[in-house]
Amino acid sequence: MEAVGLNVSIGNHCLVHVQGKPPIETEVVGFQNELTYLMPVQKVNGLQPGARVQPCEHTQQMQFGEHLRGRIVNGIGQPLDMHGPLQANNSQPYHSGTINPLEREPITQPLDVGIRAINSLLTVGRGQRLGLFAGSGVGKSVLLGMMTKFTTADIVVVGLVGERGREVKEFIEQILGEDGLQRAVVVASPADDAPLMRLRAAQLSTQIAEYFRDQGQNVLLLMDSLTRYAQAQREIALAVGEPPATKGYPPSVFTKIPELVERAGNGKKGGGSVTAFYTVLTEGDDLQDPVADSARAILDGHVVLSRQLAEEGLYPAIDIEASISRVMPQVVPQTQIQHAQKFKQLLARYRANRDLIAIGAYKPGADKTIDQAIERFPHLTDFISQGMQQSANFAESLQSLNAVLAPVEGK
Ligand SMILES: Nc1ncnc2c1ncn2[C@@H]1O[C@H](COP(=O)(O)OP(=O)(O)O)[C@@H](O)[C@H]1O
Ligand SMILES: [Mg+2]
Repeated sequence: MEAVGLNVSIGNHCLVHVQGKPPIETEVVGFQNELTYLMPVQKVNGLQPGARVQPCEHTQQMQFGEHLRGRIVNGIGQPLDMHGPLQANNSQPYHSGTINPLEREPITQPLDVGIRAINSLLTVGRGQRLGLFAGSGVGKSVLLGMMTKFTTADIVVVGLVGERGREVKEFIEQILGEDGLQRAVVVASPADDAPLMRLRAAQLSTQIAEYFRDQGQNVLLLMDSLTRYAQAQREIALAVGEPPATKGYPPSVFTKIPELVERAGNGKKGGGSVTAFYTVLTEGDDLQDPVADSARAILDGHVVLSRQLAEEGLYPAIDIEASISRVMPQVVPQTQIQHAQKFKQLLARYRANRDLIAIGAYKPGADKTIDQAIERFPHLTDFISQGMQQSANFAESLQSLNAVLAPVEGK
């Protein structure tokens, strides 16, 4: 929307009054000469030319507190579940400040996410930020749901940004279920919400995570997806006339991504932590996608899900060779690093020689590592597989890893 005669700055709020309807909440997103560009926060109808625009303070202050646990809210903090208004006892408005990077606690502790392959081979550190790279239908939502249910984090904040409405419902009812929901706060903004609302949902889920971190809790933040967040920013930027630069994305998208992601991480010394997973859609397995590229550069690791593995029925379809946790050496003992390397080596060796083995062109005895890889391969894939209802804590994961590698240890 364009308005004239306003003296407001970017980020300010304005109400647009239309006859016979509640006022429409908007945010200032740009200027040109005497024009001010406004973007509605929610879907609008009944808008008329010449409507009166009134600058206003932030319309409502969201209250943060334990009452959010188990609730589902939209991008501006209004409840979406049927459990009535948010009851705020002992709660407070909360503004997150930026943390000086030198004041942040370094990442030294592992976080148990309840997934065997991740705990043992791609260990996540408290305060780490990872990408979950995958195409659609490869098992992202199921994996995020499993982490929500099985992690040892004190609370899980789930941001569902820009997914289809049906998927939001499915995720909450079927994948999370009652138990999962009780450990979580869900912020949902489906694809048909206004783009500003989708941006707000990503920001609000980050802010809720920051709030619980500042209360000293270890928070797991799961954002699905970072790509849709980038696309919402693209819609807004293009609407106010920013030129597209990289594959249709205007430059501001690539400043918005770090702005969001940099807010996760550890707090100041003695405080809590926000460990975060951001899903990134790699359509058509296009790893050159500019959002994927920029995410990979600023995250401390990535878990790649492979369509091929999913098609083989191997879930979670984690491509161990393509995935990496950059903080793993800081949070686990050296022996575990060696075991993880041995595991990857066997897997890679098998995959590289797979065709030869399949047609019987490989002669057993020719290469010791290939022999080991052939013998161990079924155990390696069994080790990665994990059913949706199955949890694997940190100790169990390590034990299983040792058991899988025991026959080839030291040889
Ligand atoms: N751990 C698992 N065990 C069995 N099936 C799984 C598992 N993870 C995913 N799937 C299958 O893959 C399908 C798609 O998963 P989903 O998480 O919805 O994909 P995405 O979110 O990436 O689009 C699920 O409906 C399910 O059938
Ligand atoms: Mg999904």
